[in-house]
Amino acid sequence: MVKIPKVTRRKAIYLGGTTLATTLLTGWLRHPKSLKAYAARKGLLYGSAAAYSKLSENQEFARRFIEECAILTPENDLKWHKIHPKPNDYDFSRGDWLAEFAKRHKLKMRGHTLVWHQSIPKWLKETANPQNAESILKEHIMTVAGHYQGLIHSWDVVNEAIEVRDGHPLGLRKSPWFQWLGKDYIDIAFRVAAEADPHALLFYNDYDLDYDIPHQNAKREAVLNLLRSLKEQGTPIHGLGIQAHLSGPETRFNAEKLKQFLADVASLDLKIMVTEMDVYDRGLPYDYEKRDRRIAEVYEMYLNTVLEEPNVIGVLTWGLSDRYTWLSKHRPRNDKAPVRPLPLDREFKPKLAWESIANSFASST
Ligand code: XIL
Repeated sequence: MVKIPKVTRRKAIYLGGTTLATTLLTGWLRHPKSLKAYAARKGLLYGSAAAYSKLSENQEFARRFIEECAILTPENDLKWHKIHPKPNDYDFSRGDWLAEFAKRHKLKMRGHTLVWHQSIPKWLKETANPQNAESILKEHIMTVAGHYQGLIHSWDVVNEAIEVRDGHPLGLRKSPWFQWLGKDYIDIAFRVAAEADPHALLFYNDYDLDYDIPHQNAKREAVLNLLRSLKEQGTPIHGLGIQAHLSGPETRFNAEKLKQFLADVASLDLKIMVTEMDVYDRGLPYDYEKRDRRIAEVYEMYLNTVLEEPNVIGVLTWGLSDRYTWLSKHRPRNDKAPVRPLPLDREFKPKLAWESIANSFASST
């Protein structure tokens, strides 16, 4: 083996007057290694939903999560059925673990969610009625949002309250909460959340706001009307979460309509976050290359549009890796092949969708 004298070795890392360190640094500045870094350069947040069970069990996943994400949404661990399993019993164990994980790794945390028509525990269904529902709701929100006071960047206070197909003149979903309390449950929830955690941004969160199809056009209008009336009443609401569960084969995307909607929301002095993005691949070819290319294209087209709106403050995907996605169960492919809706593959390696998200952040102004 030839022994290289020390001095020559040191010289070898000089590249035309700059050191290797400088070259790596400028390379990194031009091409950061993580989605959170791409987002941060534009003053944006990138993050993902994750479950306590996955982050606590899989160290490699946890490591990749911390590398890529600046903000974490507990996927199910703060929902009613998990956190409030019995009338007088709260279980903060999983949420506390996630809050501690977030703190230790300097991640922000989202709260999801305080009022939803799903994940209603059996005891609540059986005991709630128009007389007691308001006090049950208030107690839950005070307790849960109070427990995490100061730790939450933004709460999805009310989730999915609009369903135009339910036939209500304002498009309100006939959820159990609506049936118990009428439309006031929404305002009540925000007021109590503001009291319980005055530091958190309070969001209304919903899906099917993305495409130029009759149902979604009507839903955007109903959501906008809801937000307008909440602002008029002085409800303490600070933002809209657009879930963005997108469809790979869907082509009826209209950038102008979506931009107009976001501009209308922004004109109400509301912030906007993409809270649950993924692109389901049912109906796309089996071939990985073709499938990944289309999924990536959808990510880029959507985010390029959304990120034009200055009130957008961040983007979260509903999961980081194809290994852990709700779509495996909720939208399986007809050919039973594993689904590929997220930025990282099952081995936590970046896919084309990762590149697309990075490109969208990089090209946003
Ligand atoms: C989903 C979870 O990912 C699943 O694990 C669970 O079985 C059902 O809920 N909109 C939301 C999220 O606001 O809470 C949902 O999460 C996905 C759709």
